[in-house]
Amino acid sequence: ADALKIGIAGLGTVGASLARILLERREMLTTTCGRPIEIAAVCARDRSRDRGVDLSHAIWFEDAVALAEQAEIDVFVELMGGAGDPAHAAVTAALSRGIHVVTANKALLAAHGVELAMLAEERGCLLNYEAAVAGGIPVIKALRESLTGNTVSRVYGIMNGTCNYILTKMEKEGLSFAECLKEAQRLGYAEADPTFDIEGNDTAHKLSILTTLAFGNRISADDIYLEGISNISIEDIRAAADLGYRIKLLGVAQKTDTGIEQRVHPTMVPIESEIAQVDGVTNAVAIESDILGELLMVGPGAGGNATASAVLGDIADIAKSRPGAQKVPVLGRPAKSLEPYVRAQ
Ligand code: HSE
Repeated sequence: ADALKIGIAGLGTVGASLARILLERREMLTTTCGRPIEIAAVCARDRSRDRGVDLSHAIWFEDAVALAEQAEIDVFVELMGGAGDPAHAAVTAALSRGIHVVTANKALLAAHGVELAMLAEERGCLLNYEAAVAGGIPVIKALRESLTGNTVSRVYGIMNGTCNYILTKMEKEGLSFAECLKEAQRLGYAEADPTFDIEGNDTAHKLSILTTLAFGNRISADDIYLEGISNISIEDIRAAADLGYRIKLLGVAQKTDTGIEQRVHPTMVPIESEIAQVDGVTNAVAIESDILGELLMVGPGAGGNATASAVLGDIADIAKSRPGAQKVPVLGRPAKSLEPYVRAQ
């Protein structure tokens, strides 16, 4: 069968991991997907950097928008990050041409998700974003597909690997906040601007996407009560432990009688609870729904391989899909039918 041609915009930690995996596992992926996946085009800020992968066969573009507008590809893979341009313009350009998109960009979806979903649906394209929330945990699939027919009442969890890594290391190794953050950056967990991690914005972006999938409302990331972990000291962590608690940065969304409540803040969780056992860069997402009951998913939440694995799964889904086959609505239901966001009183 014809190869699925992809264009990758952004070759940082995630993009480089993805490229390496695609080349190293080419045969295995061809068998699984029924066709080869080929990196046809790429763009990155620094072409000369050694990424441990030979991309000389791909066409290099100057910028992401040019790649999205001109490259001969079936799928545009956006791994640049950032809510604005060039990511926004490039994804818009790709969808406008009828090209499927895979993105790990939660900030982009939090800001423009509904508009992009509408465009994708209008053009009959897939817009896959499993990697955007809780890294390798298949939470988008769970909410968008597996839990179809359930009424969800609450979604919550640990959705930022950097913060959980910092809180765990402060507690277990007694290191300072600043040292732990540096280490998280070195390991490729943190955002380009780590204030997004530690002030809770990244968790808020992810939560707003889960809220929409859970409750069928338009995305509203601005309506989230927000408090990060930058003021948490080792003393706070010890005081919580003395009382039988651990401190975790949680994102919580629930349906109330008056509307939807969304919040992100450091939370004391009982030491014996499952979520308190989630350590390091690991994430956890709990979903409470009426048919299934309580689902808790735990897994790697950040870093090159965890994120690349989720991106790869999204690409493979497209490789396996048949032309003209029924497509899953981007945000769980057709974007036009999403309800206005009503904030709980
Ligand atoms: N900076 C994010 C985190 C990356 O630490 O969780 C994954 O979205």
